[in-house]
Amino acid sequence: MFRRLKNCHNVEDLRLLAKQRLPGPIFHYIDGAAEDEVSYRRNTSAFNDCDLVPNVLAGVGEEVDMSVTVMGQKLDMPIFCSPTALQRLFHHDGERAVARAAEKFGTMFGVSALGTVSLAEIGEMISTPKLFQFYFHKDRGLNDAMVQRAQAAGFNTLALTVDTITGGNRERDLYSGFTSPPRLSLKSLMSFALHPGWALNYFLRDAFELAELKDFVKQGSNVAITIGDYFATQLDQSMSWSDAEALRVQWGGPFCLKGIMSVADARKAVDIGADAIMVSNHGGRQLDGTRSPFDQIAEITDAVGDDIDVILDGGIRRGTHVLKALAAGAKACSGGRMYLYALAAAGQPGVERALGNLKTEIERDMKLLGVRNIAQLNRDMLRFR
Ligand code: LAC
Repeated sequence: MFRRLKNCHNVEDLRLLAKQRLPGPIFHYIDGAAEDEVSYRRNTSAFNDCDLVPNVLAGVGEEVDMSVTVMGQKLDMPIFCSPTALQRLFHHDGERAVARAAEKFGTMFGVSALGTVSLAEIGEMISTPKLFQFYFHKDRGLNDAMVQRAQAAGFNTLALTVDTITGGNRERDLYSGFTSPPRLSLKSLMSFALHPGWALNYFLRDAFELAELKDFVKQGSNVAITIGDYFATQLDQSMSWSDAEALRVQWGGPFCLKGIMSVADARKAVDIGADAIMVSNHGGRQLDGTRSPFDQIAEITDAVGDDIDVILDGGIRRGTHVLKALAAGAKACSGGRMYLYALAAAGQPGVERALGNLKTEIERDMKLLGVRNIAQLNRDMLRFR
């Protein structure tokens, strides 16, 4: 079936359009996860083990308020764009498209340390909340430079990713030969030839590079490497709680740990003075077999929900998923693939479509649940099977 953006009504429709547009190795880099992809699937299916219990005759009215405040930033909708790498590989506008779409919807945009547009440019471009996602490299000069550039560009929040001290075992990338930048082999050239729209943009527009890393590391920009090998060779595997605390102090603003899964670690995040945690298993791309964020969210919010902002990251495909997470205690949700498929499918209009679909669902679902604002969501509206 030939797909068009106007017929994409949900994340799965956008996923299929992305699959149509992208060379296979690039699609499978986004779509794939670690080993048997059990955690990846569970991240979404966990929501189906929990049912919503609506309240009717609630006098809701036509206007609902879905805004939330996280890390001191007001967001007009309760889901934001998680930081994701390599965006100009998926669509030539890359981060520029996602930034503008996020701004239009008044939500936060997370820019990855493996981003392909500079922090300075994104900072100039949008005035809505911005998060910079930080990988703790062995190269301390690079780490310092990234902090300074994010500060200079006016980013509001720094999120340290804590679940990638080595690479996940992403077997789809091994089969497809995916690297950053793409290695030019007979096989990859054939997949580019079958997707000429993508290939012309990739080869004729600005050269692909990792904007914040290229002055320090050749790998990823000029030397092809798998993402797994990048993590395993460039990141500091001895990263510890004291490193995280020192980074928080160096940053000096709202600070988040991305990739917390246990109550014990959530408590330590509070102890080091973090403002937020993203409960995340990296979209199932790192340690396969980890619990899903939604399975963990209640126990984590029970333990630290009054002390720190808890964000559920990953698995969101529907407005009801967002509302279940918030009813369980999360302050907001975030997701990567939910907008990346859309970016690959159609650039900025695609991302707007993805955020618009979710926003429309959240609004409708709030009305059908009988709530006027996010604060009215609570655990009584959930039953776990
Ligand atoms: C990934 C990294 C780069 O999951 O976040 O591929």
